[in-house]
Amino acid sequence: MLGPRQLWLRLRTELAKRIGSGHKLEELSASLAGKELFFEAPPLTRELIRAIKAITPQFSLHGDEESRRVWELSQNGSSWAEYDALAPLLETIAEPRKVLEIGPGMGRSVVFLRKKMGWSKAEFHLYEADGDARKYPLNAPRSSDSFCGDLASLELVLAHNGVTGCSLFDAHALGYRLDRLPGPYDLVYSFYGVGFHWSLADFWSEIRTLLTEQSIAIFTVHHTFEPFSELAAMPHRYVRCQRILAKDRPLRLLVVSPDASRLSPLDRAR
Ligand SMILES: C[S@@+](CC[C@H](N)C(=O)[O-])C[C@H]1O[C@@H](n2cnc3c(N)ncnc32)[C@H](O)[C@@H]1O
Repeated sequence: MLGPRQLWLRLRTELAKRIGSGHKLEELSASLAGKELFFEAPPLTRELIRAIKAITPQFSLHGDEESRRVWELSQNGSSWAEYDALAPLLETIAEPRKVLEIGPGMGRSVVFLRKKMGWSKAEFHLYEADGDARKYPLNAPRSSDSFCGDLASLELVLAHNGVTGCSLFDAHALGYRLDRLPGPYDLVYSFYGVGFHWSLADFWSEIRTLLTEQSIAIFTVHHTFEPFSELAAMPHRYVRCQRILAKDRPLRLLVVSPDASRLSPLDRAR
């Protein structure tokens, strides 16, 4: 059940979207929006607004400073929400050597992890593709025409944040096959991507080839997510994750590792 404030914010956000008036800072969760800034948004050019809208249609942005700030704090705050949920794990693991992000969008997570975790040496591989075919079902069958990224804008945002050492892998060029990526990876994650919009079960056999016996994989999942048989047979945990829009209810992050001992920091935190 939504409380009166959440209900009001949901109505307000919907109205703002309909009349195109842009989002306001008060729509963000105050506790997340007030945290230390790691992700910095460049000026919102027409091209960047188009790229952001393709990925996050819930944001109605203009080229002014308030829009830039709303987007900056939303990206930074979303990453803080994931960090807060995963801190017991992230703070106990060594810096990974190789990391894969599936569907990085505009790069908020890689910027955040580089800066907040101080992971300066980790090699980040980003799997994304240009496209405007945004289809955001929930946990739907895998599809190859669902990409809505913009690699040029992603590069621009990374450069604005001084983030280097990332390799972009174009999903179109890889024939949409994750197992063509040069793994294995110590850490694989997909926030609001595979596992959330598209069925993790459909990608799992490819993702599994990219993991070692010590790797950790993390996915945003919906409340209704149920483990499929290969996942059920592997150690995994769920952690609750807040969301940046105050109107939204918390979600879950699924954390998987072939080595159960790697997940134990999450158990100790309970
Ligand atoms: C909702 S956005 C999330 C972006 C980013 N992870 C974040 O949380 O801000 C979903 C991303 O998944 C990408 N995507 C779409 N289809 C995909 C697929 N089949 N495999 C992997 N990523 C996909 C989109 O291009 C988009 O960048």
